[in-house]
Amino acid sequence: MLLHPIFTTALLVERISANAVLRFGCSQIVVERLDPLVNPSVNPSPHVHQVVGGNAFSSFIPESDVSQLANCTTCSFSEDLSNYWTANMYFKARNGTYKRVGQIPNRFLDGETGGMTVYYTSPYDNSKVTAFKPGFRMLAGNAEQRTDGGVTKWNAICFRCYNAPNFGGDNYAPCSDSTVDTVALPNKACPGGIRTTIRFPTCWDGKNLDSTDHMSHVSYPASGTFESNGDCPATHPVKLPQLMFEVIWDTAPFNDRSLWPEDGSQPFIFSQGDSTGYGQYGDYVFGWKDDTLQRAMDANCFGATCSQLKSQAFTEANKCAVQNSVDEQVDGWLTSLPGMSGM
Ligand SMILES: *[C@@H]1O[C@H](CO)[C@@H](O)[C@H](O)[C@H]1NC(C)=O
Ligand SMILES: *[C@@H]1O[C@H](CO)[C@@H](O)[C@H](O)[C@H]1NC(C)=O
Repeated sequence: MLLHPIFTTALLVERISANAVLRFGCSQIVVERLDPLVNPSVNPSPHVHQVVGGNAFSSFIPESDVSQLANCTTCSFSEDLSNYWTANMYFKARNGTYKRVGQIPNRFLDGETGGMTVYYTSPYDNSKVTAFKPGFRMLAGNAEQRTDGGVTKWNAICFRCYNAPNFGGDNYAPCSDSTVDTVALPNKACPGGIRTTIRFPTCWDGKNLDSTDHMSHVSYPASGTFESNGDCPATHPVKLPQLMFEVIWDTAPFNDRSLWPEDGSQPFIFSQGDSTGYGQYGDYVFGWKDDTLQRAMDANCFGATCSQLKSQAFTEANKCAVQNSVDEQVDGWLTSLPGMSGM
């Protein structure tokens, strides 16, 4: 499975299986301190997020059909009004000031600005998955984690140090190549930037759209992997599509070692104050229209075009906006991470 081509960013290699692989870009819609999942109605929330997807994103998103609340999306599938977000990466210079690290758009998805690549896949054997229900949301990873362990045991969340510009070293399935993949934030200069991979749980309890920790209504497989169609636990019997985020942090402009801390410590840090990388996480609020996601999964759609789905050009997608509702600076050289005084 190491060389399975569906997860290469290139997608130029031969496709050896016929499972569903939706893989599409979503431009940035907003970068601000809001978190409707973990800190609903709190403005500002504790730390900064980078958000993509539909324009219903705000400090509070009701547990209802989000595709009825949003009118547009920054994703190239125009019926996907979901929201996807992560913490932001910042660079801490030797002089103690911080600057937000931008995101490199997917090189094969013309016109995307910042943002991320989103995947929805079915197992390699093409067994059936059940799409999320309106109101569904979940979290992968733990913003507070600072040591190895947790969800990383499923190879769910990792980094890849791109060893050359233009996505160098991008030939293997994520989280599987020990020469370039790490669970910790790479502690060296990566000439092509740093990729984040976040795979979400794929088994659902079939009842709850959310849970107090935003995780316990879902589960990773009880055995094996999602890709190998590993069994779901009896408590979470419904097999979901595997949602995966791919974010490429543009760290290369900060690779001048003379700007890095003199003690050799990590200059990159996530917006919740995590410089280990163990705390990286992703958030999801489902918002596909009607049964569009189910139809696309059932039709084994592949890549960023799908006979079952409507697409839009990024010239159109990029017009979709969320008014920034937090009055603070998140860009430029900052004396502290927004919301994290003393860091
Ligand atoms: C979407 O359009 C509806 C109807 O025009 C409007 O009530 C709603 O506020 C809009 N939603 C957003 C997020 O702009
Ligand atoms: C801190 O260092 C950065 C990177 O060298 C520089 O651009 C910025 O102006 C410096 N800020 C201060 C306050 O010295």
